[in-house]
Amino acid sequence: MAYVQKLTTIARDTTYTSLECSVSLSFDKGIRDQAQVLYQKISSAHPLKYVVVVGIGGSNLGTLAVYDALCGLDDRYGSQTSRPRLFALDTVHDATVDHLCKHLVGNMTHKDDVIICVVSKSGNTTETMANANILIQELESRFGPVSDRVVAITDPGSAFHAHAMSHQYHVLTLPKNVGGRYSVFSAVGVFPLLCLGLDAEGLLRGAQSAVNDLTSPAPIAVSAYQDIKAAYDAHLAIHDLFLFDPRLETMGKWYRQLLAESLGKEGKGLLPTVSIGSTDLHSVAQLYLGGPNNRFTSFVWVEQETGCVIDSNPSLALVENLGGKSLSTIYHAIYEGTRAAYTKTGRMHDAFHFSTLNAESVGYWMQSAMVWTMMLGNYMGVNAFDQPQVEVYKSVTRSILSQP
Ligand code: PA5
Repeated sequence: MAYVQKLTTIARDTTYTSLECSVSLSFDKGIRDQAQVLYQKISSAHPLKYVVVVGIGGSNLGTLAVYDALCGLDDRYGSQTSRPRLFALDTVHDATVDHLCKHLVGNMTHKDDVIICVVSKSGNTTETMANANILIQELESRFGPVSDRVVAITDPGSAFHAHAMSHQYHVLTLPKNVGGRYSVFSAVGVFPLLCLGLDAEGLLRGAQSAVNDLTSPAPIAVSAYQDIKAAYDAHLAIHDLFLFDPRLETMGKWYRQLLAESLGKEGKGLLPTVSIGSTDLHSVAQLYLGGPNNRFTSFVWVEQETGCVIDSNPSLALVENLGGKSLSTIYHAIYEGTRAAYTKTGRMHDAFHFSTLNAESVGYWMQSAMVWTMMLGNYMGVNAFDQPQVEVYKSVTRSILSQP
């Protein structure tokens, strides 16, 4: 396939000149090195407690997706870990921003407890700049100047870049041709993930394998592309990502943006939806199986560890055949049951299996998803790398705010 060949060639070229150049990010050692050097530079005797990512869309979803997949549960249940905690600000929502500021000011003893990553490729996103202003001003009112705790991640030469330099923020850049939703393997994702003590190297290794596998006989990215393309050709308007692992819910949000913003133009595109097994089996599955046949579903299954096993004589013996079974066996039966129901009711679907959920497998899947999205854009004849109509709302918002 000529386009796949083109992508594999681009992957070896770190001049970042083509629209598809994000495929070379994971091979670019300079990105890791710069992130590592900066991380060392701003590490201090104070153990880092918080990383706050201020950014929106492609500027934060990748980082959040990886974090939630790898350690979201630790976070939710407050497991003992020396790892810093990730907070994110995207929407300009007063109560959310206020709660975070109060939480930080109340729990930090020193400004070095936090690193604030302000991520904006353009540097002119209203939400990001508004939230960053509030966060920095609140921290400064408690700790004095915090500019040395702020890392601006932006396009080289953007107005934000210049501002960050003049305010003594640290600066990391991403290549101009790498769009937000394709940027998780650039400083945008690598730096905060490194600060969080996550396996950024493993993530990038996984992404590299996904690109390397493009020359193998049956690359996942290509088979997913072929399946989704067949659905698109059959006039199915919706692509549902049905995730059988709640840790991947944020990954679903990341994918939703990737597919929607990349392909939704010139009257074309697929509406991405995200479902979680089992939750959504008891919510929307009736519609999925009995409603309009207008959806292509990609199931994602993650092999589960066998930890919880029901006693052979369970106290709640109300559902048959549960005694002695592990939750992972039961979950797998539900997953297989769901897929069989899709087949029985004639609903098009495919599946991706993670044998284990770690940085490498996550990197592999994310890179594959970016590749099949680019391939779909190429097939549909749309530019998968811009978002012209999003810019409309951004500029109108700026003009409304310019009025007194
Ligand atoms: O994927 C994209 O390009 C967009 O979602 C952007 O990431 C989002 O609009 C934020 O833009 P910026 O990074 O310029 O603040």
